Amino acid sequence: MDSEKYSRSLARVIISEEEIKAKIAEAGQFLSREYEGKPLLLVSILKGAFIFLSDLCRAVTIPCEVGFMCAQSYYSGTISSGIVNITMDLQQDISRYHVVIVEDIIDTGRTLNDIANLLKARNPLSLKIITLLDKPERRVVELNTDLSLFTIPDLFVVGYGLDCGELYRNLPYIAEYNENAAE
Ligand code: IMP
Ligand code: MG
Repeated sequence: MDSEKYSRSLARVIISEEEIKAKIAEAGQFLSREYEGKPLLLVSILKGAFIFLSDLCRAVTIPCEVGFMCAQSYYSGTISSGIVNITMDLQQDISRYHVVIVEDIIDTGRTLNDIANLLKARNPLSLKIITLLDKPERRVVELNTDLSLFTIPDLFVVGYGLDCGELYRNLPYIAEYNENAAE
């Protein structure tokens, strides 16, 4: 993609770097209070949540471990395939941990619902879900999150780990992506 088209597709910044930082500091304090004295495992769903997890775990002041899973539900565009495929699994035996799933965004909820059910079946000490972004208007499965840092309208967004066709993950903020803006 040429650099002009790359920038023109970003319609506007919807959540700034400073706003993200402030919410993550609060979420880190919340986790540190909630899991004091307990074995905590933060599970990140790759690739989208890799930046969120790396900032969130540094805002946690109690001992914790991190683990990674890879699930794909979107291919190259902005339309969900509706199929969740676990392509990389955790190494830890989660029955010894209080598990917190760290997700980038909940859209239809299908991906996280499948992952949460899979992890519940492995009998963790407890299971909670933290998401950076939540698009409640788009939900097709019932799914309760324990903490959503930002609720957003039905927009396709990129940045801070979220991609469109694998690009834009490295933006330090969240922007609305508008594919027509570059036509
Ligand atoms: P769900 O299964 O429909 O909830 O979709 C979850 C996955 O779709 C997320 O973890 C993202 O990887 C991707 N996704 C959903 N909405 C967006 C978006 O606005 N921008 C980028 N990726 C998204
Ligand atoms: Mg994701």
